[in-house]
Amino acid sequence: KSLTIGLIPADGIGREVIPAARDAIIAVKSELPELKFIDLLAGWETFTRTGTALPRETVQTLKEQCDCALFGSVSSPSRKVAGYSSPIVALRKELDLYANIRPVVSVQGSAVAQGPTVDLIVVRENTECLYVKDENLIQTENGKEARATRLITERASTRIGKIAFELAKARPRKLVTIIHKSNVLSVTDGLFRESVRAVPAVSGGKYDDVTIEEQLVDSAVYRLFREPQIFDVMVAPNLYGDIISDAAAALVGSLGVIPSINAGDDFVMGEPVHGSAPDIAGKGIANPVASIRSAALMLRHLGYTSAADKIDKAVNDTLAPAKLLTPDLRGTASTSQVTDHIMGLIEKQ
Ligand code: NAI
Ligand code: MG
Repeated sequence: KSLTIGLIPADGIGREVIPAARDAIIAVKSELPELKFIDLLAGWETFTRTGTALPRETVQTLKEQCDCALFGSVSSPSRKVAGYSSPIVALRKELDLYANIRPVVSVQGSAVAQGPTVDLIVVRENTECLYVKDENLIQTENGKEARATRLITERASTRIGKIAFELAKARPRKLVTIIHKSNVLSVTDGLFRESVRAVPAVSGGKYDDVTIEEQLVDSAVYRLFREPQIFDVMVAPNLYGDIISDAAAALVGSLGVIPSINAGDDFVMGEPVHGSAPDIAGKGIANPVASIRSAALMLRHLGYTSAADKIDKAVNDTLAPAKLLTPDLRGTASTSQVTDHIMGLIEKQ
């Protein structure tokens, strides 16, 4: 048996932090089947060189040869560029990675982690909502008019709901909070809310011990900042989930420590929540923790629990003493210092 991992660093700091995540996986190789890594292209730089941000070969190799993948970050332009579309959004679709799972946990002992302790998971639907990118621009008598379609299906809402209940069941507080805005968008968000709420009823009592709450998305953000401890597992449609998880990241001090996985029934892709960070790219100071934790989350999802535990423990033991922190956590350490320290701790375990 072997484990083949596609590596897609893409742009900016992705090229600095994905190698760190690879090294962390190599450090726990004794807990894993024979490892194989395949380097794959995607992103803005690939687009400028080849005319496509997601080469066919990348998708094919992922589908045919890889068990899982790690994705770095892409530099997507905010303006519309002919022929360009975000490869990460396309990959989630191509591989049907319908669940974006983002645990947000306070960095103990860090100067930037003030206020209440945060320990929650954002479960974001990953395939629909406004991100189906069905946008239209027309010229009217009164100027330009832009429209976007928002797709919410019962199928996608139910399956993301199941993921949320499954995660909540395994946590001490066993609480699912549904995030929506169905007071305004009663049809689309209404369907999301009802579909998630209906999950326990059709699951044969499996989730009887899980509490369901709900919160409108705007007040959810407000409450997240005032009393983050009220949340355990937050489940949200794509756009709200995207925003909430970045907001939650701010609470714990830095995007640089927040991991995620994009999970489907047949494939999983680890991905730091942050972007390509052009302001610090190439300086060797990007925080590798989000990517290293994404690798651990990916391994955990695949059932390699002991490998994941080892990585997570080494990361926490590196952060907690607050000696080895990158500048985003108000430290002075470099990417490689943090990575080497984590690998050193793994080897000592
Ligand atoms: P960003 O996440 O790249 O950066 C936001 C801020 O956080 C910056 O100050 C950055 O230096 C800091 N930061 C992020 N990750 C860090 C890390 N690991 N260590 C230390 N500091 C870190 O978001 P921004 O600036 O809005 O977007 C930059 C580019 O990234 C854009 O082109 C955007 O489209 C893209 N992006 C890509 C994503 C992806 O690939 N999934 C997600 C979000 C943005
Ligand atoms: Mg985002």
